[in-house]
Formats: sequence, structure tokens, C-alpha cells
Amino acid sequence: MRKKLIAANWKMYKVPDDARDFFRNFLPLVADHSRDEIVVCPPFVDLPAAVESAKSSNVAIGGQDMHWEKEGAFTGEVSTAMLLAVGCTHVIIGHSERRQYFGETDDTVNLKLKAALEAGLTPIVCVGEVLEEREAGLTDDVLRRQCLRAFHAISAKKAAKLVVAYEPVWAIGTGKTATPQLAADAHQLIRSEAAKAFGEKLADSLRILYGGSVKPENAKALMSEEEIDGALVGGASLDPKSFAAIVKY
Ligand code: PGA
Repeated sequence: MRKKLIAANWKMYKVPDDARDFFRNFLPLVADHSRDEIVVCPPFVDLPAAVESAKSSNVAIGGQDMHWEKEGAFTGEVSTAMLLAVGCTHVIIGHSERRQYFGETDDTVNLKLKAALEAGLTPIVCVGEVLEEREAGLTDDVLRRQCLRAFHAISAKKAAKLVVAYEPVWAIGTGKTATPQLAADAHQLIRSEAAKAFGEKLADSLRILYGGSVKPENAKALMSEEEIDGALVGGASLDPKSFAAIVKY
């Protein structure tokens, strides 16, 4: 059995005081929850406040992005050492908003994934098709390409901590959710790509999250699908009650 992972992606919302408020309200709501792993990924400047607030709780903290080089003249970037130094254990890589607006490519996703695994962070690698690709029947091709390139030249041993999030871009922030069946089909394809890259054993234990308009109202139906090993939640993770309701679906 794969333990589910429910992750919050706060995107560019909340200042450090908002993060503290969130945890003050959120932690009591999930205090005795051990069925699933819980991760919150705030903006970089909120990380120290989030780590401090979530200390000795059942909630882990992650970054929303990272650079693959250890250090250097890369203005505006954050390294794995920096994420680790402030207490992060997880990092989101290749979110579709990074791909769409900030020039993230399959190749930079691969570089980041290698660096995150090397550093001992748990990477949450995002893949997913845009609406035009789905409508043109290209979903499988896109997912195959994204996985193949992301997983390139990484050994099964190194990939042990890998987590993948299937996030159909047309479902992100739109209120449109993939049906559990549609998500399950995509997850099976991703799992078979992972099997090709890393072998059946790792593919069997690989957690594949679903993301895209996950809400308290649809969390149960999605999480009941055997292929879905958790959720990556944007909008509905900003409110402590609604994120807690998703965690406890
Ligand atoms: P959403 O975002 O839940 O607001 O659709 C999900 C994501 O972008 O990870």
C-alpha cells in the first residue's frame, strides 16, 4: 500500500504572518491525522515562518521550485542547500506555471530532479497536458515525453524518493476537475513510464498525485481511486479549514 501524500501549493499567496496564522488554525485540525503524509509548499520568503510554525507537527514543508546548481551567479534563484538549511524536506519541480510563464523545460526539470534527489529532498515532479493537447488526442504522447525526459539518466536507487503529480493544465485553477477515471488512466501511463525508467518495483511504490481543482467536495471521489496516491492542491489549500477537509477526505 502506498501512503498517500496531500500537498499544498500556495503559489504566490501569503506573507510570513499569514503563514503563521494558517498553521495556528490548520495544525489542530489535523493533529491526530496519520493516515496520509501532509506537505505545505509556501513561497520562499515564508519558509522560515512555516518551518517554525510546523515544528514537531505531522506537517512537512517544501519549496515551490529550485535551481539545479549548488550555488553561483544566478540572480533570484534558490538552491537545494538553501531549502535544506531552512528546514524543507520537499520541493515541487516543473509545475505547469513554471513551464508556461518562466521557461521551464523538460531538460531543466531533469536537471532539477537530479539535483533534488542528490541533495536528499523529496521531489514532486509535475507533468500534465494543456487543453489543446488533450483535444488533439495528444495527452499520452505529452505525458510520455515529459516523463521520459524528466527521468532521463536517473538510477532506480537514486529515484527512490520520487513523487510525481499529474496535473492536467486545463484543470488548474479552473474549477474543472479530471474525472477519477480520466486521472487513473493518466496515472497508469505515468506508472508504466516509471517502470521503463526505473523498473517495476519502484514503479509499484511510486506515488502519483493528482492536481487540478481539488476541493473538499471532490477529494473523496478522487482519493478513492486506487491509482491516485494523493493530491497537489492550489487554491483550496490557502484556507486551513478547506485544506484540512481535503486531508481528511
Ligand atoms: P488548483 O492548483 O488546486 O488551484 O487547481 C493546483 C496546482 O496548480 O498545483
